Amino acid sequence: MRRVNAGDWVTLYYGEKEAYTVRVVPGRRFHTTRGFIELDRLVGVELGSSVETNVGERFVVSRATLVEKLLSLRRFTQVIYPKDLGYMLISSGVGPGSVVVEAGTGTGFLAATLAYYVRPTGKVYTYEVRKDFYEMALENFRALGLQEFIVAKNKDVREGFDEEDVDAVMLDLPDPWSVVDKAYASLAHGGVILVFVPTLPQVERTLSALRKSGFRMVEVVEIMLRKYKAEPAELRPETVGVQHTGYIIQGRKL
Ligand SMILES: C[S@@+](CC[C@H](N)C(=O)[O-])C[C@H]1O[C@@H](n2cnc3c(N)ncnc32)[C@H](O)[C@@H]1O
Repeated sequence: MRRVNAGDWVTLYYGEKEAYTVRVVPGRRFHTTRGFIELDRLVGVELGSSVETNVGERFVVSRATLVEKLLSLRRFTQVIYPKDLGYMLISSGVGPGSVVVEAGTGTGFLAATLAYYVRPTGKVYTYEVRKDFYEMALENFRALGLQEFIVAKNKDVREGFDEEDVDAVMLDLPDPWSVVDKAYASLAHGGVILVFVPTLPQVERTLSALRKSGFRMVEVVEIMLRKYKAEPAELRPETVGVQHTGYIIQGRKL
């Protein structure tokens, strides 16, 4: 039997379609469209049982997934969404024990995802040029309980990476081509670079830089995700959806 502890993340489900993910911070009140819940009341509650809002609506309390937690964080930059995170993760070969460098930190979606998967023995080194973003990202890492697997640096990555012999470098920057040679120097033999950019001109410049720096097995992909209406009698694509996120460019140091 699992119970909710202070500081845990939970997802509160109302029926099949409505859900809220929240970190159980004692003393706080959480508002839903069906009334509010004092978060103190969730501490000690058994997962799978239900809690009532102030207006008597009942929510089932469940554990939160990584994606639910990420999507509940405060966002202050563009972020990399799950469809692209998943591809980047699997094609990088990153797993428990890996050492990964990434920039810029931004809201921290990518850094947090990497940290989640390199646990318990790996490390993520992340660079952010803006002090305010660096500090807010640290807060997000602490809230997710992933801070011990992340070394965050308030530093312009164009000055270079401090780490050597790393398994992967991931870049989500406006001008990734300006650090591709530094990424090459930082990678171990066989290491993978993954670059995320939203526009094709950025892809072109990044490709040229990758070739110039000596990266091999270079690929460019765009991940298309089409959501369907999950109703057996109405099964069809959703009418509205996200049309574009970005391109993923990959290369290897061989
Ligand atoms: C799109 S955001 C990254 C979002 C992040 N990948 C995520 O999933 O949450 C880009 C970040 O790169 C930072 N940045 C831009 N140039 C940089 C540089 N030269 N060195 C370090 N960070 C930089 C920006 O301040 C911004 O926070």
